[in-house]
Amino acid sequence: MFIKTGIVQAFLPAAFGFLFAAPTAAQAQPASAVEIQIKADQVASHVSPMLYGLMTEEINYSYDGGLYGELVRNRNFKEDAKDAVHWQLVQERGGAGSISLDTGQPLNDAVPASLKLTVTEASGAQRVGIANDGFWGIPVRPNTPYRASFYAKAAPGFTGPLTVAIVSTDGGTVHATAQVGHVTQEWKKYEATLTTGKAGPAADTRLVISTGSPGTVWFNMVSLFPPTFNNRPDGNRKDIMQLLADMKPAFLRFPGGNYLEGNTVGTRFDWKKTIGDISQRPGHMDDAWRYWSSDGMGLLEFLEWCEDLHMQPVLGVYAGYSLRNGARFTSFPELEPFVKEALDEIEYVTGDASTTWGARRAKDGHPAPFPLEYVEIGNEDNADRQVGSYETRFAQFFDAIKSKYPQLKLIATTAVNTRAADVIDEHYYRRSEEEMAFHSNDYDTRRRTGQTVFVGEWATRVGDPTPTLGAALGDAAWMTGMERNSDLIVMASYAPLFVNVNKGGMQWVTDMIGYDTLTSYGSPTYYAQKMFSGYHGDNVVPLTASGVPTKEWQPPAGRGFGPPPQPAAGAAGTPQVQPPQGGGGRGGRGGQPAGLQQPPMPMQVPLLFFDATRDSKTGTVYVKVVNRGGTPQAVHIALSGVTAVEPGGQIVTMSGSGPSDTNSITEPTKIVPVTSKVDGLSANFTRTFPPYSINVLEMKAK
Ligand code: AHR
Repeated sequence: MFIKTGIVQAFLPAAFGFLFAAPTAAQAQPASAVEIQIKADQVASHVSPMLYGLMTEEINYSYDGGLYGELVRNRNFKEDAKDAVHWQLVQERGGAGSISLDTGQPLNDAVPASLKLTVTEASGAQRVGIANDGFWGIPVRPNTPYRASFYAKAAPGFTGPLTVAIVSTDGGTVHATAQVGHVTQEWKKYEATLTTGKAGPAADTRLVISTGSPGTVWFNMVSLFPPTFNNRPDGNRKDIMQLLADMKPAFLRFPGGNYLEGNTVGTRFDWKKTIGDISQRPGHMDDAWRYWSSDGMGLLEFLEWCEDLHMQPVLGVYAGYSLRNGARFTSFPELEPFVKEALDEIEYVTGDASTTWGARRAKDGHPAPFPLEYVEIGNEDNADRQVGSYETRFAQFFDAIKSKYPQLKLIATTAVNTRAADVIDEHYYRRSEEEMAFHSNDYDTRRRTGQTVFVGEWATRVGDPTPTLGAALGDAAWMTGMERNSDLIVMASYAPLFVNVNKGGMQWVTDMIGYDTLTSYGSPTYYAQKMFSGYHGDNVVPLTASGVPTKEWQPPAGRGFGPPPQPAAGAAGTPQVQPPQGGGGRGGRGGQPAGLQQPPMPMQVPLLFFDATRDSKTGTVYVKVVNRGGTPQAVHIALSGVTAVEPGGQIVTMSGSGPSDTNSITEPTKIVPVTSKVDGLSANFTRTFPPYSINVLEMKAK
């Protein structure tokens, strides 16, 4: 049933967005009834169908020890040239032997060292073998099949058999076991399925390959996979993929981030070394984040991840700039190989089997080309202090890519003048909820020049390891601004996406999704993003607000606080605000605006943030209300331009008892959204929103 609209009240004029007290040192306004008016029959702008997406890179054990399903760490002995790190010798019941790295028996050119097991004493019940402690243990779940595989080669006199087992670290419990017989004197791949019983879950465990016979045997590429998402061989961890799927992301920006660039050209994401048989992949040192990358998550795996979650790839290509000492290639011939590398990469993604790299992708197991609309040239090239370097580099990539692929939209990572980048990627890491909320209106006044924006990294960095509810409130306030301005902001992605919360797993503090060996959880920010991406219309409708209470906030010195900067004519992009050095992350890369050295004046930051969208087909109006305040807040909502509003609707609310509330590996769902039916909706009604809450009100209107 629909109710006829009443008379619409007059509100403070604002063409776009909402009004709040000027950012001066004025006293906070008392909390009184807040009024919002929504012009439901008008369209302020359109919500970009690509607005909500994901950004990813190998940081915080995102893939190895994270999303990528491999459970064996240092599977091909490349993490350390001298030591078989994460491997141990097993000697049971008087059995004796030794293990060592041996470069005399390479598996192939990419994998020069193998693990040599010499068994000197093994008879009767005695056993000797090798054990791998995984990424903080091997996750054992009850009644689960695990796919084990390894390459082995024996010295004359040894034929096995070998027992493969998942065993508790103390050796007391065998969770699953299988036998592999007759090892030959040539490298050969052996496979077995290990199925656990009723026991578990457990993570104080190792993978053990052992024998009861004396002799010598070499191992390489030892691998163990649990069941993966969509059962992909060499695939992804199910629980984390499901968390992502639930966000309904439109795109995936990969492979970085700093991980794309590496500290040196030799440690960039060299995509050609990340494709094909995993036993032939050399892997590389992820020196940007200081740990080894197996490159099991290679270019094709990124693309299949996109396919599994129905996301568009947003492909970052190496642009001739690495991080250490600003290593760059700027002359035309120097850069040409990297331009070619990017063109080949695009062909690998999009080419059919008649092309060289399309054929290679087909050989690698994926005959169908992938869709590709956006390619990003580099990452945060504002950090490149050599004047004109990015301008030159970008132009060379732009000309080559556009001439072969004119349909592709090219993303610049900082302002460029000599070429018209289709999109500019802007990054915002904020140090407090207030700072993020303060900036939420920045784009309302940004000049529309035709160039669109990708907010490719953003986060309120409060919360360790994952964001608190306070951070989520800042993030939600920011998202109201992005959604309202998504004619301009066509895509946005929070960063970083993942963190392994085990000790030593984190390089960058405040990450959206946390996990350990067995379980995973979404932070309050994860749920806020899920609410924003799950509930919105295709049109932004004008919304004005008055009487919004504010709270005084003292901005930190030296961060350039003041009115949002405007891009110069012909240029694009605001200066990129980066986190300070330290705080668990790299941060502090260039682009920091010239800031005040003295503490700036205190600001008044609104406690409430809103935006409204409408579905053009169904008429449903989605009103987002963020209440950062510590008290319930009544909001009078008036809709104009509708003939009827159904009294029954729905509200999704996430709230908590204070900004420091959070989720964690031990309390994964303390702060989650709750969906409930609401009644009494009309074109003119009042609703009270809980303290510290993020809300989406869904109203059926005609
Ligand atoms: O998200 C962490 C890092 O922040 C990214 O790798 C980089 O692009 C930015 O400096």
